[in-house]
Amino acid sequence: MCGIVGYFGKQDAVPILMKGLKRLEYRGYDSAGIAVLNGDGSHSFKKAGKVSELDKVIDDTILKGSIGIGHTRWATHGEPNDINAHPHWDHTGNIAIIHNGIIENYSVLKKVLEEKGIQFKSDTDTEVLVQLISDIYYSDGLEFDQAVQVALNEVVGAYGIVTFCNDEPEKLVAARLGSPLVLGIGDNEYFIASDASPIVDHTRNVVYLDEGEMVTITNNGHGIRSISDNSIINKTATEIEFSIEEIEKGDFPHYMLKEIHEQTKTITDTMRGRLNLDEGTAFLGGVSEYIDRIQKANRIYITACGTSWHAGLMGKYLLEEFAGIPVHVEYASEFRYSTPIIDSHTVIIAISQSGETADTLSAIRMAKEYGALTVGICNVVGSSIARETDCGIYTHAGPEIGVASTKAFTAQLSVLYLLALYFGRKNGMSKSAGQKLAKAMWDMNKQVEEVMANTDEIESIAWETLKADNFLYLGRGMNFPVALEGALKLKEISYIHAEGYPAAEMKHGPIALIDENMPVVFLAPHDRTFDKVLSNIQEVKARKGVIITVTDKRTKDLEKISDYIIDVPSTHPRTFPLLASIPLQLLAYHLAVLRGCDVDRPRNLAKSVTVE
Ligand code: G6P
Repeated sequence: MCGIVGYFGKQDAVPILMKGLKRLEYRGYDSAGIAVLNGDGSHSFKKAGKVSELDKVIDDTILKGSIGIGHTRWATHGEPNDINAHPHWDHTGNIAIIHNGIIENYSVLKKVLEEKGIQFKSDTDTEVLVQLISDIYYSDGLEFDQAVQVALNEVVGAYGIVTFCNDEPEKLVAARLGSPLVLGIGDNEYFIASDASPIVDHTRNVVYLDEGEMVTITNNGHGIRSISDNSIINKTATEIEFSIEEIEKGDFPHYMLKEIHEQTKTITDTMRGRLNLDEGTAFLGGVSEYIDRIQKANRIYITACGTSWHAGLMGKYLLEEFAGIPVHVEYASEFRYSTPIIDSHTVIIAISQSGETADTLSAIRMAKEYGALTVGICNVVGSSIARETDCGIYTHAGPEIGVASTKAFTAQLSVLYLLALYFGRKNGMSKSAGQKLAKAMWDMNKQVEEVMANTDEIESIAWETLKADNFLYLGRGMNFPVALEGALKLKEISYIHAEGYPAAEMKHGPIALIDENMPVVFLAPHDRTFDKVLSNIQEVKARKGVIITVTDKRTKDLEKISDYIIDVPSTHPRTFPLLASIPLQLLAYHLAVLRGCDVDRPRNLAKSVTVE
């Protein structure tokens, strides 16, 4: 979603804000803007397009100051153009604001303000908020931060905002409800951002604002208080856990490729200290207090969005098979508006890379109202979902910058394997079966290295299938979600239409689409589904489809029938799906690169969707 960055200190704010915006660009990027305040007033520049476009138009002889705000926008209200880009100003030109989120009652507020004669320049809900703040500030004689607070109590919706006013030039105000904000505390200087990535260049000391909190920064320091009741909130700073190197591309042309390669390490990082190879079990400190409640759950709901939802689908297979607990997997956006059968014996597992996805957050809030136990599987430490769930397990994959999720997905799966192993052992899995599964899980990183060694082969398949407008991905059992995820990766970054289907369901529709122009990716491990999948491959071959088979063992039959084979080493039938997802990431990546797509910043997508 939109990215927010603010600076308050003694340095020139512009380079700090611009670097911050570049770091945040992955969140949303149809336009960008910056505003800086100094003793003589304030100035701003904004531009549709990427941050580099904004860079071209900035005149740094005008834009000078040591307090400022910057924004990358992902459009919700109003098309992405220069006018709708943030910052937005009130009609006096004194108050500037940047905003992430949606003001739901903006049309009612706008009408009231228009009736007072205030004219609007943009189509955004954000401009309504800044005009409201201005109206209160200039009519009620309040201090600027008080006026902001009064305005925020009148709005309905979600926001992360940073704002300043020329009339109180030594004050920066930020507030959060529904959109994350992190305050970085340096040496007599402050940074505020929607995540820690623009802050880590300057300080590692951060305070995560919680829902309903606002911060006022002045030369005397910072003060945090509740937006609704004005109570003072004392919070201690924590340390950012990742390094600058982790959020830079290094020698890789794209973050996505870097993150795909990091899976040789991240899968093990997720399991490190949690997997007991000797005993064939797992240790999960983050949920240890709630083990009994989970084990005795009447059902588990896994709720998530996008790629995390696919991980959840795979988790269903693992948990039902090993833990013996019924599992339902729900899109968070659907779950929260459904009437699920939840009580205090139900466990809700929310899976989210960012830990900030608005729908997933709302789903766990709803589940809590029913008294359910909520468990978070998140990558971002300190994120909203991580903090609002009763307990949880971090995936420890490190910052994921590429919009298309890769290493976070396999890390989520790794956590689900750990849960399945742990509860499997409690549910009658023998020690030797546990040891076998644990060993296979631990060995996955080496096998990922072998998959990476096939990169050239996968790139050549991408060359051969470059002209295809559609792809089909087919798998059975736990490989069905792998098919869904393979198709999603391709759609997201190459804009090729792709669908994932259970292999047998193909006969009930998609088979009509198959001809010599349709590549079909089959997931064909040598498990109990192999013969059936082979029959499905034959059905596609008979209709001249282009067969790309991902398998853990080549057979004569497979070689004869497949146009291309991608080998995936696997030592356990349950680890094949995770390993098989990696060549599909690479295939999507190479197709996108060959088609000239902006892999790390695919059109219309955002890394973290903080609006519903
Ligand atoms: C967006 C991202 C996806 C991600 C989904 C859920 O759509 O582009 O890559 O899978 O949100 O995000 P989460 O952070 O909750 O895993």
